[in-house]
Amino acid sequence: MNLNIALLAGDGIGPEVIDQAVKVVNAVAKKFSHQINWTAALTGAAAIDAVGEPYPDETHAVCMAADAVLFGAIGHPRFDNDPKATVRPEQGLLKMRKKLGLFANVRPTFTFPSLIDNSPLKRERIEGTDLVILRELTGGIYFGERGRKDNGDTAFDTCTYTREEIQRLAKLGFEMAMGRRKKLCCVDKANVLESSRLWRETVQDMEKDFPEVEVSYEFVDAVAMRLVQWPSSYDVIITENLFGDILTDEASVISGSMGLMPSSSIGIHTSLFEPIHGSYPQAAGKDIANPLATVLSAAMMFEDAFNLKEEAAAIRAVVNKSLAEGIVTEDLAGKNNKAYKTSEVGDWLAANI
Ligand code: IPM
Ligand code: MN
Repeated sequence: MNLNIALLAGDGIGPEVIDQAVKVVNAVAKKFSHQINWTAALTGAAAIDAVGEPYPDETHAVCMAADAVLFGAIGHPRFDNDPKATVRPEQGLLKMRKKLGLFANVRPTFTFPSLIDNSPLKRERIEGTDLVILRELTGGIYFGERGRKDNGDTAFDTCTYTREEIQRLAKLGFEMAMGRRKKLCCVDKANVLESSRLWRETVQDMEKDFPEVEVSYEFVDAVAMRLVQWPSSYDVIITENLFGDILTDEASVISGSMGLMPSSSIGIHTSLFEPIHGSYPQAAGKDIANPLATVLSAAMMFEDAFNLKEEAAAIRAVVNKSLAEGIVTEDLAGKNNKAYKTSEVGDWLAANI
């Protein structure tokens, strides 16, 4: 196949982890006889520095023309402590999500048998965890009305959802559950928030269309607790934007390293694949960041964007092999084992595909 991939490396460790994913994807393409056409484009702080805008129109055009977008990370510390900065790298990410219509963010959480003891949670709590959080990505408080009043002494952000926005996300959740263990949990705060009551009402109305799916409704505060106490009890979780942001960071702890979990964002136009971790500026340029989350995001890309399941399986297999053989970066190596460089892990994965 001829595969056109937009490559958005972004900031911090983004370029380094993206480089490794490119090596692995090229190796897979060679093995399975695909032609990959990479088109790199600017995003984040790198784009602000170059053209003054974190998601330039040229980048959007590249994404729209591609079959999939592979994305590194966004964010730079020089903006974090400057509340008055008017242009921020994160705005680029939000604009990209909105303009590409990426209304669903798919964040799986699973454990790797060889890494179970890397998790800060006890083995018996996390063994068998295999859940997906489906986070609504283009609505809610992230995109609601906001502002200041009373001479700047009062600030507000509003959370708004329409029935249609909830339905399209929930439909994906029901369909995903049908292909898995047929359990769907709708996470909200319906005991307090009106928008949550609309979520609950909308999902309840959809239950009749998916009679085989067992649906539960839980409050977000309770889920925050149960997620670390009994994560294997969940299958598919659907939730609004901000709750999903928080719960997916929490869930990443289960697998043992932020550097392991991939994600996809899907919706109306081109789908996007990215690691769930951030730009990790402290590690930028040091060749120490774990590239596996980005490599596994490339596996999701083969499976979900191109429907090439064998290619995805080949990537997952080589990642498991690297973990089993200890070809890992310092976050996973532990004190007594050799830590490999980011680029060495990428080279090894590509050579062993
Ligand atoms: C994420 C990030 C973003 C978000 C930030 C960088 C805007 O935390 O992808 O989860 O809050 O959505
Ligand atoms: Mn987040």
